[in-house]
Amino acid sequence: MPSLMASRVLSGTRPTGRLHLGNLLGALENYKKLQGEDAFFMIADLHALTTEYETHAQIADQIMEVMVDYLASGLDPERCTIFVQSEVPEHAELALLLGMLTPLGWLERNPTYKDQLRELAGRNLTTYGFLGYPVLQAADILLYKAEKVPVGEDQLPHLELAREITRRFNHLYGKGKQIFPEPEALLTKTPRVPGLDGRKMSKSFENAIYLSDTAAEVDKKLRTMVTDPARVRREDKGHPEVCPVYFHHGFFNVSELETVARECREALRGCVDCKMELAGKLNEFLEPIRRKRELWTKKKSEVRQILDQGRQRAQAVARKTLAEAMQAMGLRK
Ligand code: TRP
Ligand code: SF4
Repeated sequence: MPSLMASRVLSGTRPTGRLHLGNLLGALENYKKLQGEDAFFMIADLHALTTEYETHAQIADQIMEVMVDYLASGLDPERCTIFVQSEVPEHAELALLLGMLTPLGWLERNPTYKDQLRELAGRNLTTYGFLGYPVLQAADILLYKAEKVPVGEDQLPHLELAREITRRFNHLYGKGKQIFPEPEALLTKTPRVPGLDGRKMSKSFENAIYLSDTAAEVDKKLRTMVTDPARVRREDKGHPEVCPVYFHHGFFNVSELETVARECREALRGCVDCKMELAGKLNEFLEPIRRKRELWTKKKSEVRQILDQGRQRAQAVARKTLAEAMQAMGLRK
């Protein structure tokens, strides 16, 4: 049970496919720490639809993939509430209400919106739904009156908009009271996790190591990972701090980290050996997750039950808040 002092936590993940080490070291580790508090973790399928509406056929399968990854890596449905956004229709209803008071200018100025339009240039994103992305996200947060929102840095502009919408709502309809608390970001401390090519690990860059990769796939991928470019020959001295392989040693081979750094600086170890040592450690770490993944993959009806239970818990809160918002806005007496 959450303690009386625990603040309500809510976060969301778009179900865009299997999770990789970047997701694990960023969001997932953070989620696990927040379990046992009053925490809601949502699979944001409606948000996925804002960008995937032309290729929507897989969203339902992807929800299952994310769930299997969550459960296999230790998210415990007894200690937090996991649910699917579209299964709690109050999200759509509150988003519509918040849309009434959100000025268009706030949405058009949003830097994340502009970045995404540029990054996803191949798709037609000049839609009503995509512009309204942050309004829906604000509704996600406000429905649970969440005070803490664990997110990565890229989400800060969305969070700021959610706070502005909150203030405007309270100002217009609160009659001096704060109906919704102003949500705060709980920034994930993990630095950006480098992928195989040294850029940020991301599904769209095809540089990711997935929780579901086999041991042989991990070995093969690590062989292609970039290292310190200064180490052209075996006897060239290296700079571990710029090397993505070293970054991962810092998580999966902590006890040997100093040895790795020293031997790299003094050219006492080759990059291939260094990578294979990491592959061994990474596979040791991933093996139990893989085994649990396999088990959960066979227990689809249990996963479904977990989501049903999550939906019930989430909806109990969401219904109350929506009624309160409708009353404050004058739709109900
Ligand atoms: N926009 C978030 C992302 O892309 C996902 C998300 C949807 C979210 N609703 C949320 C995050 C509410 C935090 C709170 O990562
Ligand atoms: Fe990176 Fe290891 Fe090579 Fe040093 S020895 S550059 S840490 S792979």
